[in-house]
Amino acid sequence: MSTLDQSFVKNSVWKPDLFKGKVAFVTGGAGTICRVQVEALVLLGANAAIIGRNPEKTEKAAAEIQALRPGAKVIGIGKVDVREVEQLAAAAKKTVDELGKIDFVIAGAAGNFLSDFNHLSANAFKSVVSIDLLGSYNTIKATFSELKKNKGVILFVSATLHYYGVPFQSHVGAAKAGIDALSNALAVELGPLGIRSNCIAPGAIAGTEGFDRLVQSGSEEGQNKVPLARWGTTKDIAEATVYLFSPAASYVTGTIQVVDGGFWHLGSFAGDFYPSVIKQQNSIDNPKL
Ligand code: HXC
Repeated sequence: MSTLDQSFVKNSVWKPDLFKGKVAFVTGGAGTICRVQVEALVLLGANAAIIGRNPEKTEKAAAEIQALRPGAKVIGIGKVDVREVEQLAAAAKKTVDELGKIDFVIAGAAGNFLSDFNHLSANAFKSVVSIDLLGSYNTIKATFSELKKNKGVILFVSATLHYYGVPFQSHVGAAKAGIDALSNALAVELGPLGIRSNCIAPGAIAGTEGFDRLVQSGSEEGQNKVPLARWGTTKDIAEATVYLFSPAASYVTGTIQVVDGGFWHLGSFAGDFYPSVIKQQNSIDNPKL
């Protein structure tokens, strides 16, 4: 089910037709994070192709997203494994055949599970790095001629895990660090062609697969540790995504947009005394000049 609807446009700071005439190509578009990104782009005028491994899931999501805006065209292309560049190239061709072109690319397909290093096989590590990092590379490789033709915009879906060491996530942390490096290199290399490349790094976003796997227990209490005092929402991801694709970000490339309520800056400081000590200090009505 879609998480956004027409009220996103009505109550938005963005113009309703901001992305009219644009076409987005999105891997992982049937998953929660990437799906809301597509919903926002489509609600604001874009057409889209969403790419996934499971044809039923992908086609169902595409039909639901298409229904969000009268006149929208959203196609679901299933049976595509981002580890296979030829499959992505075929999906890119189908997108151009059916929707005319590709302006925006979101490389979002990802795989994750919790595993300590001792129980993580070489093949398991390789699987996640291949889906997340090689899959992101393949996605840009397969859409590059369209990006070049249309002076397109790339958005990689990263994370904050690798800013410090997160246990049971060595495979994902390594893959996401590689994605950041890939995006930075592409920003520099493809900038002269008019192509921008950025990453979005979601923190704990409620209602997503990553959240259910990694946060879950104690989630009510946990959100008090976030500086902005709440878990993120999929709408927070949608808004940041719209900004990065919009002309408002036309001089923004090679950046990593963290959307986590300030959480990662706390690092190991997210102990029992935060944020109570801040609240306590600010409850004293005796500010020093
Ligand atoms: C340890 C595991 C494991 C687990 C699989 N493996 N699950 N090892 N603990 N829980 C091992 C397998 O034993 C195998 O190694 C290797 O990984 C490959 O497994 P396959 O099932 O053959 O691979 P495949 O079918 O390609 O599946 C890939 C997958 C799977 C990543 C393992 O989980 C998947 O397809 N996930 C896609 C959906 C997903 O995960 N979405 C979450 C996105 S959330 P051996 O040695 O036995 O051969 C997200 C958030 C990240 O990414 C950031 C959070 C902040």
